[in-house]
Amino acid sequence: MAEYALAISDAEIERYLLMAERSRHTDGRHWSSAGLVPGAVVADVGCGPAATSVLLASVVGPAGRVIGVERDEQALAAGREVVAAAGVRNVELRRGEATDTGLPSGSVDVVVMRHVLAHNGPDEQRIVDHVSGLVRPGGHVFLVDVDATAIRMLDADPDLDDLNSTYLELHRRRGNDLQTGLRLGRLLRRAGLTVVLHEGSYEVLTVPPGLRPPSWAARAAMLAEGLASPADVDRWEQAFRRMDVAETRPTGFLPQFVAIGAVPA
Ligand SMILES: C[S@@+](CC[C@H](N)C(=O)[O-])C[C@H]1O[C@@H](n2cnc3c(N)ncnc32)[C@H](O)[C@@H]1O
Repeated sequence: MAEYALAISDAEIERYLLMAERSRHTDGRHWSSAGLVPGAVVADVGCGPAATSVLLASVVGPAGRVIGVERDEQALAAGREVVAAAGVRNVELRRGEATDTGLPSGSVDVVVMRHVLAHNGPDEQRIVDHVSGLVRPGGHVFLVDVDATAIRMLDADPDLDDLNSTYLELHRRRGNDLQTGLRLGRLLRRAGLTVVLHEGSYEVLTVPPGLRPPSWAARAAMLAEGLASPADVDRWEQAFRRMDVAETRPTGFLPQFVAIGAVPA
C-alpha cells in the first residue's frame, strides 16, 4: 500500500475547499456528461476532508446522495466537520480503501476520484478496476488528476525553486509518477470502460496570501526520508512568508486532466 504524504492541517483544509470551489469552473462543465445530475448516487473515493463531497451534494440535490470513502482517520474527522459546517444532509462518510471500498458492486451511478491516483502509483489500475465495478451499467467513472512535472509558477520566490522537485522525488521513491493525468484514459480503457472524455488544461491561479501547495504539506515526510533538511524547510517557510506579503501576487499554472469512462449498459 502506498503511503500518503500530505498531512492534514487547517491550511490544507482551506486549500481543499478553495480547489473544490474552483472545480466548478475547471471541470464543472463535464459534470452532467458524467451523470453528476440531481438525484444521482455518487461515491467520492479518496474524499479527504470532504470538500468535493459537499460540493457534489449540492449538485445531486436532496434526491441524490454522496458517499465519501477515505482511509485516513484524520481526514475523515476533518471531513465530518466540513460536512457539519456546510449543513448538508445527503453526505455520508465512511472509512475504506480505494482498492476495497466495501460498497456493493453496481450500487452507484457515478464514482468521482479527484487527486487520488497520483498517490497510488503501484495500485493505479487496481483502484480503477475496483471503482469501475461499483458503478451500475450505464453509469460513469469521473477522474481528475495532475501532471505535477509540468507545474509552472510566475513571480514565485526563488527559494521555492527546489520544493516541487524534492516533492516529485519523494513520490518517485514511493513508486508514484505524478504524470498520472496523462494515463487516466488508458486506466479507464483497461478497466473495460468506454472513454468518453480525456482532456487537460492549465488552471491559472493567482496565489492568495496564506495558500500553501501540496508539496508544503509533505514537508514532514520529506524530512523523515532525508530528502530535505530542517534548514530547507525553514528556507521554504521564509519564502512563503515573503510571498504572503508580496505586492505582486505569484501566479500558478496547474496542469489538470479530466477523464470520463462509461460502464457498458
Ligand atoms: C489529495 S487528497 C484529495 C481529496 C479529495 N478527493 C479532493 O479532491 O478534495 C487525496 C485523498 O485521498 C486519500 N487516499 C489516497 N489513497 C487512498 C486509498 N488508496 N484509499 C483511500 N483513500 C486514499 C488520502 O488519504 C487523501 O485524503
